[in-house]
Amino acid sequence: MKECRICSAPIRPFMSFGPTPIANGFLTPDQFAGEYFFELAVGFCERCGMFQLIDQPDREQMFHEHYHFFSGTSRFMTEHFREFAEHVMDDFFGDRSAGRFVVEIGSNDGIMLQNFAKAGVRHLGIEPSKNVAEVARGKGINTISEFFDADLARTIVAKEGQADAFLAANVMCHIPYFHSIIEGIKVLLKPDGIVAFEDPYLGDVIEKTSYDQIYDEHVFLFSLKSISYAFGQHGFELVDIEPQETHGGSMRYILAHQGRRPVSERVKAQLAREEELGLNKPETFLRFRDNCEKSRRELKELLVSLKEQGKRVVGYGATSKSTTVTNYTGITPDLVEFISDTTPIKQGKFSPGTHIPVQPYDDFQKEYPEYALLFAWNHSKEIMAKEQAFRDAGGKWIVYVPAVEVR
Ligand code: SAH
Ligand code: TMP
Ligand code: ZN
Repeated sequence: MKECRICSAPIRPFMSFGPTPIANGFLTPDQFAGEYFFELAVGFCERCGMFQLIDQPDREQMFHEHYHFFSGTSRFMTEHFREFAEHVMDDFFGDRSAGRFVVEIGSNDGIMLQNFAKAGVRHLGIEPSKNVAEVARGKGINTISEFFDADLARTIVAKEGQADAFLAANVMCHIPYFHSIIEGIKVLLKPDGIVAFEDPYLGDVIEKTSYDQIYDEHVFLFSLKSISYAFGQHGFELVDIEPQETHGGSMRYILAHQGRRPVSERVKAQLAREEELGLNKPETFLRFRDNCEKSRRELKELLVSLKEQGKRVVGYGATSKSTTVTNYTGITPDLVEFISDTTPIKQGKFSPGTHIPVQPYDDFQKEYPEYALLFAWNHSKEIMAKEQAFRDAGGKWIVYVPAVEVR
């Protein structure tokens, strides 16, 4: 039995994905022996609605100077963050972007802030993983390598003053000390400032059985209910939401200090939708568990049968998400020959836990396999558009979200 990280109610795991390594912990053979594993188990808090990991590895084990995830590797995401930044400037700052101050946490290689920098808006990125932060600095983006929390917020305010906007993407759900984060935002944000952040949405995970959103970094999967509850405890109000297609279904939350902005009808409507989806009911999560087990069984059977037929299967995209899939399903190098990935730092290494070789994209193109297992399914649109030649050569895609299928 554990305590909910948000409301302290007791929570118990409703399922476990078994021993799992660090999702972005791509490694070399000399590191196989000492590889770190933890039990990837999940629980749901009936009181505040927060879906969470039971245990999470220490933050330094996940975010450090050899972090393997560079945001800029996807062109689609680059475009997405350009639109996000423009939305903030156009719709929240209006024609008065000059003189504004924007803070982003988890700013990575500057994929979002580069747009503010270009527009001449004062900005600060907070990015503890030093190697990716260095890329941002190289682009002229002001970045400090620290973990954001309430103490750091006070230091920033003392030095730089309060912010007009606090932004975050795919990082709020990584941080277990959530109350300290919200307290920090409270200190940092001007009275009329806005908070805008987005993360994979619990509703999509349940609807699509996209269980691969569950891995070490994602200590939480948010819903409107859990976000309203957590921020409500610190005097914030959820004033709007903007559903996103990114990462297989995300939600952007817009919050403000209590009473400073009108609450959109969309918030009420989506809260009602969460009730309909059963996001507040334990039965929903038991059904989800059954769906995960079915997905695992079907994917394994498919790969084993392709192997028996002597077919070549290559993985596409060594995503952090795929670490949950490969370890939970038991996908080893005898079933998937290698994983093709465009990120230089991942190439020549091996996938966490299951040790499938990660190879450059050229190796995929050089000799197309018969099947490509689409680990980067969240980038499906971008990938399908550029892989027509694979299809023309008779190649087939294996997908597993929302269901195991050959396309
Ligand atoms: N925003 C980017 C990167 C997401 S990856 C995108 O959406 O593509 C998450 C990033 O958050 C990592 O680069 C990690 O180093 C950083 N991070 C983790 N904990 C953090 C914290 N407490 N404060 C600020 N950044 C953090
Ligand atoms: P993500 O799902 O966490 O964003 O990671 C995507 C991974 O997939 C990243 O390692 C880059 C890789 N990738 C490719 O190899 N080819 C592609 O076309 C795309 C879009 C991503
Ligand atoms: Zn709770």
